[in-house]
Amino acid sequence: MPTTGLPTASALDTARLLMGVFLPTVAKGPIIRRPWAVGLTARLDLDTRAVGIVKKVHARYPDGPLMLKLPVRKQAMVLAPGDANTVLARSPEPFSPASSEKKAALSHFQPYNSLISRGPVRTVRRALQEQVLDTDHPVHHLAATFVPVVEEEMQGLLDEAMRTGSLPWGDFLDAWYRVVRRVVFGDHARDDKNLTAMIIRLRKDGNWSFLKPVRRKTRARFLKGISDELANAEPGSLASVMAAAPKGDDAEPAHQVPQWLFAFDPAGMAVFRALTVFATHPEAMAAARREIDADTSGRRHLPYLRASVLEALRLWPTTPMILRQTTQPVQWAQGLMPADCGILIYAPYFHRDERSLRSAHNFAPERWLTDEDDGWPLVPFSGGPVVCPGKQLVLLLTSAALASLVDGHDLRIEEGQALDPGNPLPGTMDNYSVRLGVTARV
Ligand code: HEM
Repeated sequence: MPTTGLPTASALDTARLLMGVFLPTVAKGPIIRRPWAVGLTARLDLDTRAVGIVKKVHARYPDGPLMLKLPVRKQAMVLAPGDANTVLARSPEPFSPASSEKKAALSHFQPYNSLISRGPVRTVRRALQEQVLDTDHPVHHLAATFVPVVEEEMQGLLDEAMRTGSLPWGDFLDAWYRVVRRVVFGDHARDDKNLTAMIIRLRKDGNWSFLKPVRRKTRARFLKGISDELANAEPGSLASVMAAAPKGDDAEPAHQVPQWLFAFDPAGMAVFRALTVFATHPEAMAAARREIDADTSGRRHLPYLRASVLEALRLWPTTPMILRQTTQPVQWAQGLMPADCGILIYAPYFHRDERSLRSAHNFAPERWLTDEDDGWPLVPFSGGPVVCPGKQLVLLLTSAALASLVDGHDLRIEEGQALDPGNPLPGTMDNYSVRLGVTARV
């Protein structure tokens, strides 16, 4: 079905968007980051350039989703905040999150996951995810187990950092993966790197989406490992909640778990990035410490630290491309969008829009602390009915991690990008190159 009336980008503007926005974003690794590509993107400031390209292209076309001129694929980009909100609010029908390229990418390790399912089975799988992850509750019902796990691992990490004098990203990631395995599978899995290693290999293939064949044997072994964990789930773990949860037909519990393992990665990045900002922003650090000192919730309710994680994710979104695909033709005010049309919401365009957003390039967690919703799409966790069901759990664990890391220690950047509260923060934060200096606070 032809598109009628929707603005269509010229071949040149389509090429600009492909080369300047899509390519650098995909090169960084949509499913697992490639550290060298993140470093290069930071050095060349490609993420800032990408936002600039979108801004210029947007200014040349009338309102409405912008159709790209591609030979084979029907693809649109939404550029107006209201259109982005419409797409998110009307997901999963008619705007399905199960877009073709996402399906191909995630099928490398979780072919029956909710995010790439459609119709009634999606409803069943999403309901299971929400139930296990306690989506509607700011404090997960297993917080009494999870928060001490975070504190213990972060304390171990700090002890090591105090011994060596510094805290590089790699050490943080090892400790964070221990947290993830204990939260997901229980204490017995703390040092069992087998499943972590398998999913890393499969995610590397996932970066290539349909360009790489699926390693069926590895995937089968990986999913069998998860099924075994669920069958012998340790009490107090997410796996135990999953094992006990009532399930609809075709819920495919083992295929829901890899998304947790995979998605805890960006949560770790957000912690380390926020920590790096604290190390360079004395006012933010002071506000964080005031909250920790005054806390009476056992580190379950730390609004400023939660907001700091959200702010790190606004500045450096870990899902910069939110993808949808129409399940049927969709009528917009400006014209008709065909069925099977891909839609891209490029989050950094909204997150860094200094024309509409106060302190768009600075660290301002306060923006997340007001109840007012001005309708501007700040969507690090997506939005609408497909919003990340793990959002509250992520904010609980990451804020507890930050509390442990800044309480009682002073931090400074020894290696990595220079950040300065007086200057705009960079478009890319290369967490891989950061080494923090750690000393006891006197
Ligand atoms: C900072 C960390 C995280 C970020 C930024 C994040 C972000 C997102 C985003 C943007 C989506 C929606 C994608 C879309 O709209 O197409 C999503 C989906 C999802 N996330 Fe997260 N996520 C994070 C961590 C987690 C964790 C730790 C879990 C589980 C423990 C989780 C579970 C899920 C699930 C199950 C979905 C699929 C939802 C569905 O099928 O409707 N996420 N996440």
